[in-house]
Amino acid sequence: MTKTVRDYIRSIVDFPHEGIIFRDVTTLFSDPRGFRMAVDQLLAPYAGMRIDKVVGLEARGFILGGAVAHQLSTGFVPVRKKGKLPGAVISEAYTLEYGEAVVEIHDDALQPGERVLIVDDLLATGGTAEAGIKLCTRLGAEVVGCAFVIDLPDLGGRTLLEGLGYEVHALTS
Ligand code: PRP
Ligand code: ADE
Repeated sequence: MTKTVRDYIRSIVDFPHEGIIFRDVTTLFSDPRGFRMAVDQLLAPYAGMRIDKVVGLEARGFILGGAVAHQLSTGFVPVRKKGKLPGAVISEAYTLEYGEAVVEIHDDALQPGERVLIVDDLLATGGTAEAGIKLCTRLGAEVVGCAFVIDLPDLGGRTLLEGLGYEVHALTS
């Protein structure tokens, strides 16, 4: 039987805290067919659209976003956890399924009017993606889509992002 993206992802119970079922995409990334399938499916909905930059959310969004940017022949911009970027930054605080954090982007990483695709491995509460979107829009960029391998719909991220008017694309739940 032909494998799907979902078949390459494993779930680890009680990581990083009791009660969390952690979706581990390292098993997807390490498989040559699985990784290519995921990257190809992530960018398929955006074929023919103008995308100027892919923005990846730390850390697993860097692996996927880098590959997507390469395939689209665009630049790649990292949204990083606080204190990691060396240049001048703007910041956004957010909450996620198991904690709180601050993310940052270089303040010259995007130009006004640039069309941006946000990429990450997983959408849970949507807090990380919303913070990433805010960073992009504060720099004047237009977020044309948010692409994820996994959507955990019960945690409300898709509802949040779509309610804010953003297009959400996910490969599996
Ligand atoms: C995970 C995942 C997303 C985020 C989703 O990253 O890779 O970025 O959580 O959760 P949310 O929709 O509730 O915001 P994590 O914060 O664990 O960071 P890491 O990739 O650096 O391990
Ligand atoms: N980020 C937030 N919730 C997650 C989960 N259940 N698995 C992997 N990454 C996550």
